[in-house]
Amino acid sequence: MKTKSVDALNFTFSAVGFGCWAAGGGAIWNGTEDAASIQTIQRAVELGVNFFDVAPVYGFGHAETILGQALGRQRQDVIIATKCGLVWDDQGNITNDLKPATIEREIEDSLRRLNTDYVDIYQIHWPDPATPIQATMETLNKLKTAGKIRHIGVSNFSTRLMDEARQYSKIVSHQGLYNLLERNPTQYHNIPLDYRTEQDVFPYCRQHGMAFFPYSPLFQGLLTDHFKPQNQFDTNDVRSANPKLNGKRFETYYQIRGELFAFAMEIGKPLSQVAINWLIHQDAITSVICGAQTIAHVEENVASASWDFTPDMLAEVERILRPYHDPVYTA
Ligand SMILES: NC(=O)c1ccc[n+]([C@@H]2O[C@H](COP(=O)([O-])OP(=O)(O)OC[C@H]3O[C@@H](n4cnc5c(N)ncnc54)[C@H](OP(=O)(O)O)[C@@H]3O)[C@@H](O)[C@H]2O)c1
Repeated sequence: MKTKSVDALNFTFSAVGFGCWAAGGGAIWNGTEDAASIQTIQRAVELGVNFFDVAPVYGFGHAETILGQALGRQRQDVIIATKCGLVWDDQGNITNDLKPATIEREIEDSLRRLNTDYVDIYQIHWPDPATPIQATMETLNKLKTAGKIRHIGVSNFSTRLMDEARQYSKIVSHQGLYNLLERNPTQYHNIPLDYRTEQDVFPYCRQHGMAFFPYSPLFQGLLTDHFKPQNQFDTNDVRSANPKLNGKRFETYYQIRGELFAFAMEIGKPLSQVAINWLIHQDAITSVICGAQTIAHVEENVASASWDFTPDMLAEVERILRPYHDPVYTA
């Protein structure tokens, strides 16, 4: 397994990481089974994956519980990055909440579910405009002093908000939407993004020695060999609410996917590996957070790190993408 490291952290990350959203189970991703999630996570560890991204909101606590169970005593050997700031009510309505009291409750719940006494990187999931960032960061500092979290990361933050947050504490990482077809995305599902990944976040992370973790590297399954053009999601699968995977906009994305798929066939690799390895080869990227629900998926995804892009291959990928995104890669 290739590894990556950054100045802000004393960790060596596997270039292929693992995203635990689907381990939230049940209806979230076309019906994930717990036993399969546990086996998939354990296989990832066997294959050298040491970075696991999760969040309380994934399955309303369930993904954290499954990750804790799957890791067991191997927890010491891996880097767990969970999150705070998205809370839910009894009806399943989710809200942004970074108030100190909420975070203090959330960390206790996460530690219990993950069956650990510390989180390696505690990430703010999304900004909460209703809570001053100073109050949030000071609370996170207290958790650090108490040894409950080792480092503070952010997700979906603009560079302006990172500047503000860094007045109160060190931030070691940014997690944002980034893949072959979403290089400077303006929207995630129906949520507007006030950061541009490649244009703003990459230079920012480089400047501050921070890690960058790209989420949805496979465009939620579109950038794989198995994706079919017809809508294949259960109505309660989160992907049925992604406007880029449904309706008119989907047609363009599917067309580009077709060209990338033909390129992948030509070089004799699965499309998923082209998508993941294209991310790995970029020095701005630390560990690619790949979602996977089966052992076969995780094996295929990990194998992305076993071959190298040649300059010709990279040029060909750029040539395929250029007509769709020139001059600025937005989505
Ligand atoms: N910070 C944030 O706001 C945020 C937002 C989104 C995600 N994330 C994190 O990023 C992680 C990954 O993103 P994501 O889950 O949105 O999407 P993703 O990694 O782009 O796609 C994952 C899905 O692709 C399919 N897949 C994976 N490997 C495959 C393979 N080798 N062959 C065929 N299909 C394959 C599986 O779904 P099917 O088999 O059902 O098609 C899998 O669930 C999440 O788990 C989460 O940890 C963070």
